[in-house]
Amino acid sequence: MSVATEIPLPGAEILDPRRFVSDGYPHADWARLRREDPVHWCARQKGEPFWAITKHEDIVRISRQPERFLNAPRLLMSADQGLGEQDLPIRMLLNMDPPEHHQFRSLISKRFTPRALLGIRERVDGIANEILDSAMEGGGEAEMDFVGAVSALLPIWVIAEMLGVPREDWELLFHWTNRTIGAADPEYREEGKSAQETVEAARTSLFHYFNDMTEDRRKNPRDDLVSILSNAKIDGEPLPPFELLSYYLLLVVAGNETTRNATSGGLLALIENPDQLEKVRANPALVKPMVEEVLRWTSPVIHFCRTPTDDVEIRGQQVRAGDRLVLFYPSANRDEEVFEAPDEFRVDRSPNRHIAFGIGEHFCLGAHVARLELEVIFRHMVLRMEDLELAGPIERLRSSVVGGIKHMPIRYRLRAAS
Ligand code: HEM
Repeated sequence: MSVATEIPLPGAEILDPRRFVSDGYPHADWARLRREDPVHWCARQKGEPFWAITKHEDIVRISRQPERFLNAPRLLMSADQGLGEQDLPIRMLLNMDPPEHHQFRSLISKRFTPRALLGIRERVDGIANEILDSAMEGGGEAEMDFVGAVSALLPIWVIAEMLGVPREDWELLFHWTNRTIGAADPEYREEGKSAQETVEAARTSLFHYFNDMTEDRRKNPRDDLVSILSNAKIDGEPLPPFELLSYYLLLVVAGNETTRNATSGGLLALIENPDQLEKVRANPALVKPMVEEVLRWTSPVIHFCRTPTDDVEIRGQQVRAGDRLVLFYPSANRDEEVFEAPDEFRVDRSPNRHIAFGIGEHFCLGAHVARLELEVIFRHMVLRMEDLELAGPIERLRSSVVGGIKHMPIRYRLRAAS
């Protein structure tokens, strides 16, 4: 009997948020599942059982059939009762199915195309510069918590700008989104409140805020996302209030923690692979492919679920209608059938068919915003920071939805201006 068959296959513990804190992503477990049981039944003592889908090809095929594999019944698996990763009770793109999903998505999708984003490129560049300037004040040799000083700020500032939120309220948005997505982590929990209460309190504050803004934009429309959505109609009717507020919440939350963690995880990858950092320094044209490799490497979204409408066979497994399928994006992005040397971080990887943004009907609406932010921030950092190293241990977020780094102390020296 081989060693592989003696050790039981990984089970539901691959979703345990506590393990993400201590060990990061369970890449060895995912690799074993891809090899030995890529559509793997995970029974659980507490909570619903699920199928772990770990191959690139399967996730692509499932995601491209939105009528057969639904989002609405359940988007996330709660990793453990009471840990606050229950589905957010909101009605938004991610838990809508066709044809409703398309109606809602098309209201603003034109604002997120690469062409439309050309218009905000300069502004994003300005924001990134401002963040780095204030983080690196003083110059010379310095230390900072990279997450708090840089990577956490850029995504929220950019989406706040796109929504039309005034500058003085960006901090508020930042506070609410941290609590909405990170409530399973005690650091982000409101004192004296449970994870669920923390999420609900943050959501209520955010709803109140955007309710006021909606009223204002109906009277005084401007060139921003809140104005478009406040005045949008579906079948001749304005969006119902709950759907409208949920839309804002999704936009604020979806781009925040994800891009933050691609930025922090990307910098960590460069620190751990100095030869790759040197390669980009020598050839800044590599920043673009490097951003794609950072997305593949960090894969900030750990999982989303799909629910089949009918019984279906996947890789020989009999999946029943209503079963839970958990799509593990970071596993797909290390699939050895798709990527050469998947466990190597290569800034010039080509081709790079990663699915960090998902694929198909629900392909990340903000993918080009995230790409722009990452490109801009890495271009600045690669050119300005030298002698980069970790200045202490990193701390990871307790979540099985978004793989996150909460704190990452770094030491660096600033390059003299040329
Ligand atoms: C590195 C950063 C990001 C990553 C890794 C990421 C990842 C994802 C993934 C995996 C999905 C689901 C795709 C699927 O089910 O097929 C998604 C959907 C979505 N993302 Fe992102 N995202 C990022 C940044 C952003 C940004 C910056 C925004 C907004 C400005 C955003 C807004 C959305 C929205 C609205 C959806 C729902 C789309 C739909 O259901 O039609 N994301 N994202």
